[in-house]
Amino acid sequence: MNMRRSVIIGTGSYLPERVLTNEELSTMVDTSDEWIVARSGIRERRIAADGELTSDLATKAAQAALDAAGLQPDDIDLVLVATATPDETFPATATTVQKKLGMTRGFAFDLQAVCTGFIYALATADNFVKCGQANRALVIGAETFSRILDWEDRTTCVLFADGAGAIILEASEEEGTNQDRGVLTSHLHADGNHHDLLFVDGGPSSTQSTGYLRMAGREVFKHAVNNLASVVGEALEATGLETDDIDWLIPHQANKRIIDGTGRKLKMPSEKVVVTVDRHGNTSAASVPLALDEAVRDGRIKKGDLLLLEAMGGGFTWGSALVRW
Ligand code: UT7
Repeated sequence: MNMRRSVIIGTGSYLPERVLTNEELSTMVDTSDEWIVARSGIRERRIAADGELTSDLATKAAQAALDAAGLQPDDIDLVLVATATPDETFPATATTVQKKLGMTRGFAFDLQAVCTGFIYALATADNFVKCGQANRALVIGAETFSRILDWEDRTTCVLFADGAGAIILEASEEEGTNQDRGVLTSHLHADGNHHDLLFVDGGPSSTQSTGYLRMAGREVFKHAVNNLASVVGEALEATGLETDDIDWLIPHQANKRIIDGTGRKLKMPSEKVVVTVDRHGNTSAASVPLALDEAVRDGRIKKGDLLLLEAMGGGFTWGSALVRW
């Protein structure tokens, strides 16, 4: 039976120019290149310039995705920005991106699921497309985490960074099998009981300030490995597909050891795992679309390939999606 699916027809990304290396960080806090590489796999990351906002990064990534798809901004019905670092408390950064792109139509909103934000946004936009409320959706993950880091806390400031990635989803009539192009399945989870392990200690309602990121890294690590393994299994079970069917694992880029752990559990050879954490650090909601865009543009991902996307973050939130390219 024919089925309406959301097919990714373009990707784009943007990284700020400024590169912050581990060596430079080790002049700011008591750390070393050796420790950061061994514990996280990160070698360098990008930091937004003064006055460069989440919406600026998002707009550049979005424009690249529009160009890749051969579309104009007004061809888009929905702009969805996944971010934990919006320009302002309101309006939604998505409406600022809409304006910066020169769009005069459509609807736009932000979505907050921290590092799982892009997977949540992909699933949300997919549902808008599948139910017919949108034909084309611009889905963006964009962050300026440098603005919510405590630059004196060595346990967090060496890990997170800035960037943006974007995709365009378009409705397509497919056959309704797991050979279809587009989003085949998505699985979302949350458990608010783990708030204290990863949060920002400020906000409009609590402190009337922005606050700083706080993380119990070792605890988050353990949950990440378990939650990611289970949500990845869920995606395969739902579609009847197997590990061998997956061409590319595109994981959230928090820590190379977590990525390797998930790859090992899936028995996926490392050549099939897209890794950017060494150069990007943890860009939260931007990390999956940044990695996806890199592997699309360098020609690794080809039409018909099966992609497994996954992420885990504050909340906790976690999720996965299977997408046929
Ligand atoms: O994206 C959202 C999800 N986030 C994640 O998935 C992050 C999950 N967590 C992690 O990636 C890892 O837990 C970290 C990279 C944050 C830390 O690695 P770890 O192997 O869990 O190290 P640890 O926290 O157990 O710390 C080991 C030691 C500690 O010293 P003691 O107590 O053993 O004496 C820390 O104080 O390393 C120390 N340490 C540092 N040393 C040098 C912590 N941060 C640093 C640092 N440089 N930057």
